[in-house]
Amino acid sequence: MENKVLITGDRPTGKLHLGHYFGSLQNRVKLQKEYNTFILIADVQALTDNFNDPDKVRRNVRELALDYLSVGIDPKVSHIYIQSMIPEVAELTVYFSNLVTVNRLFRNPTTKFEAQQKENVFGSNAEGITYGFLGYPVSQAADITALDGDIVPVGDDQLPHIEQTREIVRKFNSIYGDTFKEPDAILSKNPRIKGLDGNAKMGKSLGNAIYLSDSTEEVSKKVMNAVTDPNKIRKDDPANPDVCMVYYYHNLIAGKLDEENNYPVEAEQVKKICSECKNGERGCVACKKELIEKIERMLTPIREKRKYYEEHPEEVDKILTAGTQAAKKQAEEVMKRVRKNMKLDYYE
Ligand code: TRP
Repeated sequence: MENKVLITGDRPTGKLHLGHYFGSLQNRVKLQKEYNTFILIADVQALTDNFNDPDKVRRNVRELALDYLSVGIDPKVSHIYIQSMIPEVAELTVYFSNLVTVNRLFRNPTTKFEAQQKENVFGSNAEGITYGFLGYPVSQAADITALDGDIVPVGDDQLPHIEQTREIVRKFNSIYGDTFKEPDAILSKNPRIKGLDGNAKMGKSLGNAIYLSDSTEEVSKKVMNAVTDPNKIRKDDPANPDVCMVYYYHNLIAGKLDEENNYPVEAEQVKKICSECKNGERGCVACKKELIEKIERMLTPIREKRKYYEEHPEEVDKILTAGTQAAKKQAEEVMKRVRKNMKLDYYE
């Protein structure tokens, strides 16, 4: 195991789905064995666009922890922690905020896009955007640097934030002396996962997602409604798997199921699905049923783990407490260095 620090996390605003799984969780579960891993539940960041609904954020902190544990984030090797419990991060955010112009923040494509999606909070064309929301990438830079993060595995929508973090680090170091290193983003194999409806992104607001905590019935219903090749009318028409969401998910799920095999059994099966589909030897209904069966195989152990932790809430509390303590210890060390370099180390 390397000593490098990995840091990543999510906002606790809802349940995680297969898009999160294939876009980032799968990668984290693998990487946690190689790096000193910190996974943050970004409740402060969640409040930037949910400030009027603290109950929602509070409830989802727990949900997110359960999602993490159920997919195999291992509390023995990874520290799962709650962002708001690290006040050092809030302090560092204030110092960083001097180093970023408002114009630069307005140019961040991810914040801009998100603000536009949230018309109910920020008005049309984001004209009611708040200081806190506009500035959350600064606080994200503090999340990463307060723990001396080296690598940040994320989806592609987060790349502008990592770039902004690197700029802040350079600026900070040039003014206050060498203090931080520039973190690197790591993209997973599939940084963006399409929805069952063919939309370029699986997302909860788009209504096209399968959640890790969905029941068998929910999974079946959603897969049966997935978009297939519109030119295929009869079950023995030849079709184009490249435009079919069922085929797309067959591929993703096969990758997951094959993790436990020594050779790519499932991937071989997907090649067969592809040629049968192209030759008109495979009907969509049968193909969907097969996909449901595979998603079930993938989700069953995840559901079982979730159930275990739901039934043992005190274990979840212990995991979060220990993870938060580890993160806080690291942040305290880093902040001593920061205050010293910024000439703020009074009477220490
Ligand atoms: N912005 C991330 C998201 O929306 C969550 C996040 C907050 C994060 N702080 C972070 C991710 C630090 C990586 C590193 O999912």
